[in-house]
Amino acid sequence: MKLTDIYWHLKSDIGKIEKEIEKNIDANHPVLQEASSHLLKAGGKRIRPVFVLLSAQFGNYHIDQIKHIAVSLEMIHMGSLVHDDVIDDADLRRGKKTVKSRWDNRVAMYTGDYILAKAVEMATFYHNPNVHKILSDAMVEMVIGEVEQIRDQYNWNQNLRVYFRRIKRKTALLIAVSCQLGAIVADVPRKYEGQLAKFGYYVGMAFQITDDILDFVGTEKELGKPAGSDLLQGNVTVPALYAMCHDEILRTRIIHHLDENVIDKLEINETIELIKGSGAIDYSKELADKYLVKARKALDELPDIQARRALLQIADYIGDRKF
Ligand code: IPE
Ligand code: IPE
Ligand code: MG
Ligand code: MG
Ligand code: MG
Repeated sequence: MKLTDIYWHLKSDIGKIEKEIEKNIDANHPVLQEASSHLLKAGGKRIRPVFVLLSAQFGNYHIDQIKHIAVSLEMIHMGSLVHDDVIDDADLRRGKKTVKSRWDNRVAMYTGDYILAKAVEMATFYHNPNVHKILSDAMVEMVIGEVEQIRDQYNWNQNLRVYFRRIKRKTALLIAVSCQLGAIVADVPRKYEGQLAKFGYYVGMAFQITDDILDFVGTEKELGKPAGSDLLQGNVTVPALYAMCHDEILRTRIIHHLDENVIDKLEINETIELIKGSGAIDYSKELADKYLVKARKALDELPDIQARRALLQIADYIGDRKF
């Protein structure tokens, strides 16, 4: 199932959000304007706004009230992608050249900053300080997650716990907050708000685990971004962690890659194939599935409305997404 088939009933509202982002990103500066709309026009799943809208449907759903937070969250995501591609030295994003590659790292730094600043400005629509606190906390955690990843780069002596903490910060919390803020701005009852946040957190963990699996099994064409780059960059994710624990020869090989910073594509690809043959992908999928079970469970007590069914379908989609 395609993601858009799941939220078809929100299609026109997502369209409104899209327009709003376009308007909000409008800059009085040619390079900022070009660089930020370059990423926006390249597309993307817009999954965070979808979580905002679906969560808001458990309360007083008025798109003109809710859209500002959805825009803000997608823009926080976008700004962080522009920065992430500098950190990860990535040349392709959403099937197009990254800002850092089309322009340069400096342009990417201030374009990311610009998009983040505009995201924060958008949220001033809400006078509830709690909204701003939750938003800024999520941004802080995200930065810490990315910094932790840089710290842990090339370190083969790390365990799953460290990995989980990192992906929680860099990915899961923003998705949790998308659900939570969607609920808050639509005055969803508190007990539901908590469950929606939990759902977002578990789904977000599964989302990043799947992203890390796709880096091993996907192709650049499917993903619209470079595949096989995590190991190349010294980013140790769950498939590599599994392989290191379960196969002595692979362990030695991966440690060699990390210690010597091997950049030979052929050698890396061979290791990737070996990791794929080690049971690491199945194990990682099981891990993602465990989070998805918890995510679905978090929705148990919520009223059985269309939005709940859509959230459950998104959980299914994340379990077998291909891009
Ligand atoms: C990519 O996010 C970065 C991660 C947190 C894994 P998405 O997969 O949501 O990227 P787009 O927005 O669809 O391009
Ligand atoms: C997620 O990690 C990035 C952010 C949370 C900003 P990745 O570095 O794996 O994301 P992709 O694969 O580049 O989209
Ligand atoms: Mg990264
Ligand atoms: Mg990246
Ligand atoms: Mg990735």
